[in-house]
Amino acid sequence: MTRNRPGRLSGKKILITAGPTHEKIDPVRFIGNYSTGKMGFAIAEACAEEGARVLLVSGPVHLEAVHPGITRFDVTSAGEMADQCFSLFGECQAGIMSAAVADYTPSKKHGSKVKRTDDNLMIELKPTQDIAAELGRRKRADQVLVGFALETDQEEVNARSKLKRKNFDFIVLNSLKDKGAGFGVDTNKITIIDSDNNIRHFELKSKREVALDIIDKLVEYA
Ligand code: CTP
Repeated sequence: MTRNRPGRLSGKKILITAGPTHEKIDPVRFIGNYSTGKMGFAIAEACAEEGARVLLVSGPVHLEAVHPGITRFDVTSAGEMADQCFSLFGECQAGIMSAAVADYTPSKKHGSKVKRTDDNLMIELKPTQDIAAELGRRKRADQVLVGFALETDQEEVNARSKLKRKNFDFIVLNSLKDKGAGFGVDTNKITIIDSDNNIRHFELKSKREVALDIIDKLVEYA
């Protein structure tokens, strides 16, 4: 979409994470999750249409970023996503953490295929680095950090605790209990909670419209 007026995010550089991460077990297997990246890519397109330069760090997804204002960095694992984000965040005015990052990764990556036996198989997992929490620690006064929380229960309590723990300016909460919200669908139903404890519930909308609601909140901090 071309616009005549300058976008509301023109002159801003925004780091956006999207999609799942894949944590390698062996050359043919990984631990992943159901994220498709649709929400993160919708935010990236909407930010670019508002004039931002978007640095999109994406896990493995089947999506294209079309807007020329988006520079895409493809990564596979949580570790790779962390390295990429840590090197890019310093030059950005905002970070939007929409990726579904694995919380654990196999302690040991097997170099060759793990063979089937009749015994139970134990795979030991170690925690990954919390990218958002680290960016929250590094955040300067001129930077805004936006988190996501996908919850199944105690949604607002959990979201508020993440907002605080990761030093987000605001958090976008979606509940898997809401029909039309969550993985793979083109719609989402969000609640935005900010660090001043303002809370706003939104209707079920297309992910594109949800992206615009998130941008409306983001520009309050510009
Ligand atoms: N996040 C991240 N790096 C991680 C885990 C999460 O950047 N290793 C970010 C997500 O992108 C999201 C926010 O942190 O913006 C909350 O993610 P979530 O998985 O809900 O939080 P966790 O701290 O992993 O809590 P939970 O125990 O509910 O999984």
